[in-house]
Amino acid sequence: MKAIKIIAASVLAALSLTSFAQTSSADEQQRLEQSRAMSKALGSQLSATLMKAMQEQGPVHGIQVCNEQAPAIAAAVNAANQGDTKAVVSRTALRVRNTNNAPTAEQRAVLEYFQARMNQGETAPELMFSSSDGNQYYMKAIVMQPQCAACHGGSIKPEIAQAVQAKYPADQATGFAVGDLRGAFLVQWLDAKN
Ligand code: HEC
Repeated sequence: MKAIKIIAASVLAALSLTSFAQTSSADEQQRLEQSRAMSKALGSQLSATLMKAMQEQGPVHGIQVCNEQAPAIAAAVNAANQGDTKAVVSRTALRVRNTNNAPTAEQRAVLEYFQARMNQGETAPELMFSSSDGNQYYMKAIVMQPQCAACHGGSIKPEIAQAVQAKYPADQATGFAVGDLRGAFLVQWLDAKN
């Protein structure tokens, strides 16, 4: 309990977190809502595309779809959600499959903070914070579901493991149990103040 409070306090100090309860300006509220919408759109479109591919052609094909479609789906969500300020949605995690999705030090601190909150029983924490470059970020926890286990779980079929290894030799994204923190949606608001 005490340790978690200390982690939270140090993350707060490092990132100047914006608490949602205290979100005051209309601009921040608007960003929060758009960030949530973009994360939801990326999650549901990815999930639908993946499930369809797996049902029609099996999980090994699903890996190819994830690899090829994930960036295209994110690009389409970004294109559909542009206002005055450019916002970009992606995914990150403490243990990544694609090293392009690796978090920055600040994003890692937020993921660790999410992990601490989930250890206390929270289901899917979210947060908006300002990074040292002046940009604002939104992050929301992605929780491991039963349908993710084929590719991210504890016992992965050899043909799937092989297909993953072939595309992602540095894969770290296995061994998750249902309910674990798998990663986070990340929305970056690109209007650096410096
Ligand atoms: C068919 C296999 C497959 C299934 C099922 C699957 N994933 Fe993935 N997942 C992948 C692949 C492949 C990548 C790497 C995508 C890329 O190259 O960006 C990935 C990447 C991710 C990432 C981005 C961070 C990283 O590790 O690179 C997250 C977060 C994620 N998956 C969560 C989930 C969740 C949650 C589910 C279930 C709803 C799920 N995945 C189901 C194969 C799968």
